[in-house]
Amino acid sequence: MDCVALFMLLFLPGLHWTAAEETSWTYTGMVGQSEWSEHYPECGGTSQSPVDVVTTQTKYDPALTPLTPLGYSQHGNQPFTLYNNGHTAVIELPDWMSLGGLPWLFSAVQMHLHWGNGGPSYGGSEHTINGQSAEAELHVLHYNSELYPNMSAAMTQRDGLAVLGILIVTGEETNPAFNNIINYLSRIRHANQKVFIPAFDVQSLLPEDLGRYYRYNGSLTTPPCYQSVIWSLFNERVQISKAQLLKMETILFSSKAGDPDRMLLQDNYRATQPLNHRAVFASFTAESGKELTSGEVTAIVIGIMCGCVGLAVIVRFIIKTIRFFTLLHHETVAVNRWHSSPTRTRLALINCVVCNIPFWIEKCL
Ligand SMILES: *[C@@H]1O[C@H](CO)[C@@H](O)[C@H](O)[C@H]1NC(C)=O
Ligand SMILES: *[C@@H]1O[C@H](CO)[C@@H](O)[C@H](O)[C@H]1NC(C)=O
Repeated sequence: MDCVALFMLLFLPGLHWTAAEETSWTYTGMVGQSEWSEHYPECGGTSQSPVDVVTTQTKYDPALTPLTPLGYSQHGNQPFTLYNNGHTAVIELPDWMSLGGLPWLFSAVQMHLHWGNGGPSYGGSEHTINGQSAEAELHVLHYNSELYPNMSAAMTQRDGLAVLGILIVTGEETNPAFNNIINYLSRIRHANQKVFIPAFDVQSLLPEDLGRYYRYNGSLTTPPCYQSVIWSLFNERVQISKAQLLKMETILFSSKAGDPDRMLLQDNYRATQPLNHRAVFASFTAESGKELTSGEVTAIVIGIMCGCVGLAVIVRFIIKTIRFFTLLHHETVAVNRWHSSPTRTRLALINCVVCNIPFWIEKCL
């Protein structure tokens, strides 16, 4: 028996497996998204994330009450840890932060971001709504601390994890909450770098409306893609500035410090996965989801007022006209009695109509 061969047979695949799990998967290239399932079988499962939410095919579920972040704003004085894991920037969250509004209490673990490449191409978010990407996406990850002792025990279990998905779009204004992360990215440019950052109000990163969201059963969006996530994707997007997005997209490397092949950490989002047998639920209906801007509300109010005034004027005009012709009829009858000549009657009629028009218009307005 060749002991070396036996050793290699028994242990090398294991070592190789560990190495692959630690570092080697990427979004494109040798172990890109389409190859993930060869190394991580669950990535080829039927309940994968992210997905495209087709709003007309979502099912309204009135039991989906607003999500309640607990302790997100009580960050304390302990700094947060921010690190570059070669795939994204991760912020570890203290264990007293948790999420209510689900059938179990979920404890916060970490949050991280997904983004595009700083180019003009649209994309960067993982989830899409009606086929539309946002520019980036924030994920806040929690584990089911009622059923499981820790994250590693929960992450392989159905209902083990709850992730909040927040779509990020760009606009004119800087979002100061996001600077609590973005300002420190320059300290973790390379994979495996870690820094302590001042603790901050995590809830300020979330949209204001925590009542409107989409819910479905899915997976981690990175290997090993465990199908253990209760997803909540908020309807309201948060906005950061273009400069903030550009910084996020161009500052980090997926390669380690000193690596001769520097690789920018970009386009770290997975393509949407088939829904298969799954349903996506909505906590709101299409009508309640439609928000009117103050401009639209003003326009509608003015429109209704103009309509009412216009209707009143028309009704008044019709009433006056009827009265006028009734009067005219009486006059004509009277005139006919006195002068039976038809020419005079016609003249009197024309005279009355013409001379009274300005009078009726004035009365009506
Ligand atoms: C998580 O909990 C399991 C089960 O109790 C335990 O075996 C494991 O060591 C724990 N892992 C960590 C990282 O604490
Ligand atoms: C998720 O799966 C569980 C079964 O494990 C089911 O009870 C629940 O309704 C599903 N939730 C959604 C949103 O589909």
